[in-house]
Amino acid sequence: MSAINIALLGMGTVGTGIVKVLTNNAHSIAQKVGAPVTIKKILVKNPGKARNVTTDAKLVTDFEEILSDPDIKLVAEVMGGEVPAKDYMLAALNAGKHVVTANKDVVAKYGRELFEAAEKSHADFLFEASVGGGIPIIRPLKQCLAANKITEIMGIVNGTTNYMLTKMTNDRMDYAEVLAEAQAKGYAESDPTADVGGFDAARKIAILASIGFGARVTVNDVYIEGITNISIEDIEYAKELGFIIKLLAVAKQDDHGINVRVHPAFVSVNHPLAAVNDVFNAIFVKGDAVGETMFYGRGAGELPTASAVAADIIDVARDIRHNVSSQILCTCFDQKPIYPVSK
Ligand code: NDP
Ligand code: HSE
Repeated sequence: MSAINIALLGMGTVGTGIVKVLTNNAHSIAQKVGAPVTIKKILVKNPGKARNVTTDAKLVTDFEEILSDPDIKLVAEVMGGEVPAKDYMLAALNAGKHVVTANKDVVAKYGRELFEAAEKSHADFLFEASVGGGIPIIRPLKQCLAANKITEIMGIVNGTTNYMLTKMTNDRMDYAEVLAEAQAKGYAESDPTADVGGFDAARKIAILASIGFGARVTVNDVYIEGITNISIEDIEYAKELGFIIKLLAVAKQDDHGINVRVHPAFVSVNHPLAAVNDVFNAIFVKGDAVGETMFYGRGAGELPTASAVAADIIDVARDIRHNVSSQILCTCFDQKPIYPVSK
């Protein structure tokens, strides 16, 4: 069976992880897809940069080389940022190529436009890695829990700040020092203000609320407060009272409306979220039929995130192999909330 050729946009932390996963697990992935999955081209900014993985893929700096290549049927966007990532994804979808992405900035803001483009082209558009890193949460919410009325989605959805708060709590490490550590580990966004300011968590909870509540919830609907003002002293006071400080993202829906917020919170040491440390994330979802469910795992980093992107690639590669477009699109991004949204 001839290979399914794909392209990556970006070969940083996540792109490198994808190369590793697709290489290391090539055999089992080929079995699952029914054909080998080959990375043909990778878009980068600096082709001369030293890379910590080797690949047969051609490194290119011009997106046109990927867009105009008829052999490339699937584009995995892991370059980050809004510009030019959103335009590249849109162009790929309009050209009939399938797109998968880890980019919550673009999904949270332009999801609707991208879903429309995908639908018009009968292409797949998947974004499992955009929330929770390696944790399966988008598919469970939009598929496995689809029969429920979701009333609450709540948890820790930013790995960088959870890593920082853990080190500040357990080792009394200095804020700047521990942020630098999170950046060195590849957890933080290229502009870490997105992490510490709560904006990354806000984008993620907006995506989850949109899917879970079947309503368009944007970042502008989210009350946002990050961890920039949290000091070691705050953490020590919380400890004395039997609490741990965590950055929580919370989305609730009742008969009066939807409320979505991100802020540091006192969490009782006895609550399961108090035991969610380092780069781990945990997300609780409450549904009227299922009750409470919890999703837990590494929320950022090279291989965990690559695990989620590669799973999307496998799903799309199967569709390409069978010449179908079966991935359920998120029409909820197109709908008006049933109830008012308030901060
Ligand atoms: P990095 O900054 O590590 O990598 C970005 C890559 O994109 C680099 O290879 C860079 O090229 C390339 N790139 C950036 N801008 C351009 C451009 N204009 N033209 C061509 N190439 C470009 O980012 P990450 O891998 O950390 O993150 C990628 C995406 O994944 C982001 O959307 C992020 O939010 C998301 N994500 C990240 C997670 C993580 O743990 N890091 C977890 C979940 C999601 P070059 O190498 O030449 O500099
Ligand atoms: N910067 C993000 C985080 C990456 O720390 O959670 C994963 O989305």
